[in-house]
Amino acid sequence: MLKHLTALPPAPKALVAQCGGWIFVWLSGHFGWLPGGIWTLALVQAVAAVVIAAAGRSAWWWLPIHLVFTPLAVATLALGVPSWVWLAAFVALALVYWRSFRTQVPLFLTNHKTAQAVAGLLPSSSAAVLDIGCGLGSLLVVLAECRVDIRLTGIEQAPAPFAFAWLRSRKWPNVTVMRGDFFAPSWAEFDLVYAFLSPVPMARVWEKAQREMRAGSLLVSNGFEIPGRAPDRVIEIDDRRGTRLLIFAL
Ligand SMILES: C[S@@+](CC[C@H](N)C(=O)[O-])C[C@H]1O[C@@H](n2cnc3c(N)ncnc32)[C@H](O)[C@@H]1O
Repeated sequence: MLKHLTALPPAPKALVAQCGGWIFVWLSGHFGWLPGGIWTLALVQAVAAVVIAAAGRSAWWWLPIHLVFTPLAVATLALGVPSWVWLAAFVALALVYWRSFRTQVPLFLTNHKTAQAVAGLLPSSSAAVLDIGCGLGSLLVVLAECRVDIRLTGIEQAPAPFAFAWLRSRKWPNVTVMRGDFFAPSWAEFDLVYAFLSPVPMARVWEKAQREMRAGSLLVSNGFEIPGRAPDRVIEIDDRRGTRLLIFAL
């Protein structure tokens, strides 16, 4: 059973830990092992959820989340906030993060210095650039501002960032923002593909780049390495994050 739990993806594993915590509380109550009171129940559930998550080898940062989840839910009930507020907050977060629980790629943004460094990698004559997971379009608008001769495409799957990027890029005729999964279309027509993602999809990104991109084109990863493949060049950006642009030549 522990083997099955360990093999689960992060989100279902978290659900199992939370439900397991509640089952433990229910059983403890049933056999008369628990003193009464909502706080006792919440704390016992939280500790049981942490133990189950740790046994299932969840990443360490899930453990504090499990520890505070139910106690915070109980505490917020006491505030008497109307239930539609929670629904609205859930919908807003879902529109921003969408399938992040599955892709394991959250939303964070390329800064201006990094976008300018990417601009420096573009060929002097016209070129086509693809930002896979373009978020709010932070890279696209900087490139569009400094190069009117290049064709820029962004693909974003989360509805709210997509809508924002689409709206803000409308004034540049050379920018196209599309909604969807960036693994679906071909990358063959692009001279530079920019990826600011997470370690999780990088092996698949590299596989697709090798399969589809032309010789001489570039895959640029903001910060995340490709397993088993050293970058051909690294650009260190002088910013607070200590950004490293890893450049892979096809
Ligand atoms: C770290 S953000 C980078 C945003 C933008 N490229 C930038 O540099 O500012 C990664 C984005 O990729 C999106 N994303 C992750 N997997 C995706 C996929 N398979 N297809 C399309 N978008 C995806 C996420 O929704 C998120 O907005």
